[in-house]
Amino acid sequence: MFDLLPNFWTPVLPVAEVENTPVAVELAGERLVLFRNLTGEIGALLDRCPHRGVALSLGRVNENGCLECPYHGWQFDQNGACRHVPLNNPADVKLSVLSAVRLPTRIIAGLVWVFTGQGEVPDLEVPESLMRSPEFYFIHHEVWNAHWTRVIENAMDYVHVPFVHRNSFGGEVGQAIASGSFAEFQITQTKHSIQVFNRYHNIESSFALEWHQPNLVVLKFDEMGMPVRSHFFGIPVNKHQTRILIAIQLLEPHAVAMLDEFISPIIEDKVVIESHKGEIPATTGECNVPTDRATLLFRRWYHQAIARQAVTI
Ligand code: FES
Ligand code: CO
Repeated sequence: MFDLLPNFWTPVLPVAEVENTPVAVELAGERLVLFRNLTGEIGALLDRCPHRGVALSLGRVNENGCLECPYHGWQFDQNGACRHVPLNNPADVKLSVLSAVRLPTRIIAGLVWVFTGQGEVPDLEVPESLMRSPEFYFIHHEVWNAHWTRVIENAMDYVHVPFVHRNSFGGEVGQAIASGSFAEFQITQTKHSIQVFNRYHNIESSFALEWHQPNLVVLKFDEMGMPVRSHFFGIPVNKHQTRILIAIQLLEPHAVAMLDEFISPIIEDKVVIESHKGEIPATTGECNVPTDRATLLFRRWYHQAIARQAVTI
């Protein structure tokens, strides 16, 4: 299960989009149903009734706060436990063996996170800048027709900026390149992250980003003097589609008026990224140059941590 992103915490949807009406969402090739019970707790279950396999998302949250299957009315709580099986004598039914499959959930930065593994659940560790309360974040999400690894690689790839973003924030760098500028970058690695700091030779422009395992790139616009820090997630929907989810941390109230300046350029990449075929290849699969060093580290991590693991499952 979840071979595209096995054994990781990932956001799946903004909390604000999960109401009492069940929501179906595809994650890493599996269909999930998210819902709220009557006290507001969120449950994430595989969207498959353990009885006859129909989509639980076609059901409803009933007066007991349980998700009620649309077919024979079995009732499941937010932990997937079966609470009631209609028309059977309760004495004849052992509810404890009739559970739906649930995913562990957490709410952070206005996002619903789920863990895509079985067995022991690791702590969910996120960068400090995602630990504020939800009102500090503006969230945008949409689905692109691309493999999630291409989407994350793109977010780490600063060399495309003067080309893809020629008409927005890449214009200045483009002019500098035309006059012979080149990029000087530093890469620092920890076990779970890669930090990239880039400065362009002969112009006053630099930027910093951080990749966090598995699918988050933090773009530190604030270190370039802007009042936001952007958290960019590439969430696999399936092999061919990725939900890009951007949680922009607003560092000053007036940043709200500037949101479009940050969202529009990020979406400019869509056409280019959708022209890729399939996942990122192993490190030797395409031509590489020194400015690809950061994305090559991501490629190596992916092929060691996920692609190989997915094959052996
Ligand atoms: Fe869900 Fe029968 S299929 S209750
Ligand atoms: Co871009």
